[in-house]
Amino acid sequence: MEEDPGRGHYAKKLTEKEIKKLEHEQQLSDYQRTKFEREAKKSWDLFYKRNTTHFFKDRHWITREFPELLQAISEVDDSHPVLLEVGCGVGNALFPLLEENDALFVHACDFSPRAIEFVKSHPGYTEARCSAFVCDITEEPLSSRLRENSVDIALMIFVLSAISPNNMIPALKNIFQVLKPGGSVLFRDYGLYDHAMLRFGRGHKISENFYVRQDGTRAYYFSEEKLAEVCKSAGFQVAENRYIQRETVNHKDSISVERIFVQGRFVKPNSECTPKPLSDCTSPPTIITRCLSLYRTTHNQTIIHTRIVALTKMKQYYRAKMVFYCPLSIKLERCESSSSVCLPRDEDCRPP
Ligand SMILES: C[S@@+](CC[C@H](N)C(=O)[O-])C[C@H]1O[C@@H](n2cnc3c(N)ncnc32)[C@H](O)[C@@H]1O
Repeated sequence: MEEDPGRGHYAKKLTEKEIKKLEHEQQLSDYQRTKFEREAKKSWDLFYKRNTTHFFKDRHWITREFPELLQAISEVDDSHPVLLEVGCGVGNALFPLLEENDALFVHACDFSPRAIEFVKSHPGYTEARCSAFVCDITEEPLSSRLRENSVDIALMIFVLSAISPNNMIPALKNIFQVLKPGGSVLFRDYGLYDHAMLRFGRGHKISENFYVRQDGTRAYYFSEEKLAEVCKSAGFQVAENRYIQRETVNHKDSISVERIFVQGRFVKPNSECTPKPLSDCTSPPTIITRCLSLYRTTHNQTIIHTRIVALTKMKQYYRAKMVFYCPLSIKLERCESSSSVCLPRDEDCRPP
């Protein structure tokens, strides 16, 4: 989809008033910027002191959005999958996930010691299935806690946005090092022109698309392009990257607001197979047909129905510019004789 940065993007068109507001925003001084950077960890720790475990809702949507989190066996070496959640907070994604997939082992880190204490005192925390530790991913190598190339899936939910743009690539490289080749980062974060971004008043803008809240915590609002750029610079291949819109209701003020997020999947390249755009590999209809027949034989009825709808749409749209990548065909090759295949979801089949 075409992006017009001055007027918005396909998920959010800016009004004249919003454009004017953004144009007139002034950035904070270098002194203030440095201060907020230095105090980032303290600000988040105080955030959890004030809000304890009550601020974020449990992320029960996580396995719906990322069905790969439900896989019981690692595709790489047939062992139980190992997950790393970075910036886990108090475990709002972690605990629903442990409940839904009892084959998972999850390493979870956050730079707020208080958040990690809350995780460890949660009734669902057990050392047999989870290891939570304090780590600032912009400074401390994850490889001092986890073996290199040992993690199947890394989860980043609203965490990269809390890191200053200068430190995003080092943070992603840190994760890259512990991921297995072929392993993925599953990502959701704030999207450009999200409702919260457009509501900041004077004195909150740190730099382009980067803001500080009243409590000193910071939030970056990602365009698809910026997200792809930092992920590629850290060595990842972009398998999925798109804006999503969600309506949320503010019960206190009885208003409903439209939130914009970016959601993505970034893959550590596998030396044997380099993902390429689908158009460069086996022809899309061939892959779709093979997917369908494979899927029918391996999955339960409900999932089959959803995926068939997605695949049918894909058939309609594949001629248009579709962002869909080759790992599907690689996976197909790898698993035609085994039991799992990851198929595109409804949202992957965006109309042109
Ligand atoms: C918006 S919260 C999201 C928490 C959790 N992922 C969730 O979805 O509920 C951002 C989290 O990132 C953590 N964080 C920010 N910068 C970090 C860093 N450099 N290293 C590790 N964690 C960080 C914060 O402490 C905070 O818990």
